[in-house]
Amino acid sequence: MSNTEQPSNPEPETPNLEFEGTTPYEDYVRASVLTSLQHPLSDEPGEMVFLVTTQVMELWFTVLVHEWSTAARAVRQDDLPTAMAALRRSVPELEALNASWKPIANLTPGQFNAYRSALGEGSGFQSAMYRRLEFLLGDKNPSMIIPHRGVPAQYEELEKALYEPSLYDEVLQLLRRRGYDVPDEVLDRDLGKRYAPDERIERIWQEIYSGPQDTELVRLGEALTDVAEMVWRWRNDHLMATRRAMGSKQGTGGSAGVAWLERRAQNNVFPELWTARSHV
Ligand code: HEM
Repeated sequence: MSNTEQPSNPEPETPNLEFEGTTPYEDYVRASVLTSLQHPLSDEPGEMVFLVTTQVMELWFTVLVHEWSTAARAVRQDDLPTAMAALRRSVPELEALNASWKPIANLTPGQFNAYRSALGEGSGFQSAMYRRLEFLLGDKNPSMIIPHRGVPAQYEELEKALYEPSLYDEVLQLLRRRGYDVPDEVLDRDLGKRYAPDERIERIWQEIYSGPQDTELVRLGEALTDVAEMVWRWRNDHLMATRRAMGSKQGTGGSAGVAWLERRAQNNVFPELWTARSHV
């Protein structure tokens, strides 16, 4: 700009300041509700970040349940573009979920002990949204819904999710519709039980992965593998944070703690997508 020219509008336009009642931001985000839910149980200043991290993770679980329910429905309707879009969105969401471990990943036992007793018997094990998330992945177990009996509406919702086909079940049905020999025993099994790997399903993935790589089913397999890998990472980051914060003590939820979590973290979801790789 030359010295003689004056800016026509020196002040950038300022945002609107006047609203009747609550702001449109508040109406959409409900920030005042969200930020009124942080009630630490101890006087330890470090408890706040533990509580908020847990709440943030609950919100991510909610997003993931939304994405994978969308994906499962779309697979059922043979709408693979919608399913793939939901699965692909869920991968960076899982990365964001896992990044939430950062602030509490390195707690010393002393720091954790400072508010641990205030948690009483409270444990993430009792998270209803985490159970829905696991059920969608095919990690089912009827005893996992027992803690929620005291809240009938939540219990009913979990019970429904327990017996509904998981995302992986919908994928197996799709493989059958695409002409693969998915056995009846796999499709008609008790859906309320944890999905058990089956060699015949492994052979189907082996066949898919042995063919051309640029097919819809390889892309679907890879999107599911990305999800499975990130779920494994969440479980292992949780295990490591727990090992650092409390060693081999018993968990607040009554389990053997690290030993119990170690067993849980070993499980890979969508098992045949992992084992089939050895035969391609
Ligand atoms: C350093 C902090 C943490 C420690 C020491 C810890 C410890 C534990 C332990 C020992 C268990 C086994 C059940 C029990 O006996 O309580 C457990 C389960 C669980 N925790 Fe945490 N936890 C931590 C942070 C979190 C956070 C932030 C979340 C987020 C929601 C969370 C979610 C879960 C879930 C979902 C389970 C059940 C896992 C399953 O069923 O396989 N935990 N935790």
